[in-house]
Formats: sequence, structure tokens, C-alpha cells
Amino acid sequence: MNASKRLETIVSFVKGKVLADIGCDHAYVVIQSLLENRVQKAYACDVSEGPLERARVNIESFGCSDKVQCLLMNGLDALPFDVDVIVIAGMGGLLIKEILIRGIHNVHPGTRLILSPHKDAKALREYLSQHGFVIQQEKIVKDGHFYPVLNVLFDGVSKQDLTLHERSLGTHVIKDSDYLDYLHHEKDKWKKILDRLPDPQKKDALEKIKDIEKNLNDF
Ligand SMILES: C[S@@+](CC[C@H](N)C(=O)[O-])C[C@H]1O[C@@H](n2cnc3c(N)ncnc32)[C@H](O)[C@@H]1O
Repeated sequence: MNASKRLETIVSFVKGKVLADIGCDHAYVVIQSLLENRVQKAYACDVSEGPLERARVNIESFGCSDKVQCLLMNGLDALPFDVDVIVIAGMGGLLIKEILIRGIHNVHPGTRLILSPHKDAKALREYLSQHGFVIQQEKIVKDGHFYPVLNVLFDGVSKQDLTLHERSLGTHVIKDSDYLDYLHHEKDKWKKILDRLPDPQKKDALEKIKDIEKNLNDF
């Protein structure tokens, strides 16, 4: 199965006994996590029958059927009790947030979550930091586009005070060449925005650019 750098990074963060991949589609994360012995068993979950059928075919062809149960399920609605690692990836941050709000009562404290929103990561970080999740590490993956992959622990009680930089550009991000490219990309983006703004509205954009430059200097 062809793996993107984004999916490989998600798998590299999987560590536990029982994985649930919510919105599994092709089920690459489930299959690769089992092949690498990162978990002992897994649930491949999707809200739609089409993607779940795709998952079944792939799971069968990689000889993983005895260790995987496919569940037609909306978000975390019927999350099995034994799950200790959850992946939710390839959706917007707002949808991931909605899935967590709706189903968090099914998640045990101590559960690891690997979350990879393709947009609205700031809103997701803001929610996590105030609702019993700790963002322990992040990797920004450059894979055509820039994708954040958040390695999160749910304890049900923590509150994390994040700076604007951490909310917008990542929390405890691994400082590598992808992240360096991401900071340069964001700086260029905000410079273009700044050029188009009328003078009274330039303050926020200038602050963002200054903050990114400071982080580039500290790199
Ligand atoms: C773009 S695919 C991402 C597949 C894979 N997770 C990845 O990162 O490559 C999004 C998948 O999420 C599923 N999905 C969307 N909303 C969902 C929900 N509320 N619960 C479970 N699955 C959902 C879709 O059916 C689709 O298969």
C-alpha cells in the first residue's frame, strides 16, 4: 500500500495495546500499526460503508483480519472499552473537535490520541488545551501541503496555557527541516497579507510576522 509521509508520521506516534482509527478509510494506519507491532489489535472505524468496505479489502489482503474489527460508527459513539490509542486524521480540526465533544465520555483517562487535522488546527488546539487533553508533541509534516500531527494524552483534568504562537503554529513541535520550511511559508504568507491590508489593520499581521521571525531566530 502506498504510504504518504503524513500517514507514516501518524503510525510512528501509535503506541499501545488496542487502536481505534476513526475515519479509517483505506485503513493504512491500522494495517501498518499491526505490521509494526505497535498495537496488538485494532478497530477500523468509519461513518460510511464505502470507505469501510475499502478498509475490509485492504485488511484482508495484508493478512490482518484476525486482529481487526471493522465498525460502522459515527465518531466515538460506540467506542469499545478496551481502546487505549485513538487516531483521527484527514478531517478538518472543527470536525475532529465535534467528534471529541460528542464522544469523549467513551474515552478513558490515559488514552493516547493522534490527531491530524488538514485545516483549523488552531481551533482544535484551543479546545484540547482547555478540556483535559495535553498536547505532548507535534510534528509538522511537509507532504505537498503542511499537515500537523498532534500526539495528545487525555487525562480528563489538565488545562494547558498555550501562547498564541503555540495555538497557531504548533505546541512542542519537533524542530526539523519541515518545521523550518513551515515557519518560512507562514512568514511569506503573512507578508503577502500585510501588503494587502489597509494601515489601521496591519497590527495583527505585523505581530504574527515578528513572532515567526523570533522563532526562526531561536531555531
Ligand atoms: C479524507 S478521509 C481520511 C482517511 C484517513 N484517516 C487518512 O487520514 O488518510 C476521511 C474519512 O473520515 C470519515 N469520516 C468523516 N466523518 C466521520 C465521522 N463523524 N465518524 C467516522 N468517520 C468519519 C469519512 O467517511 C472518510 O472515510
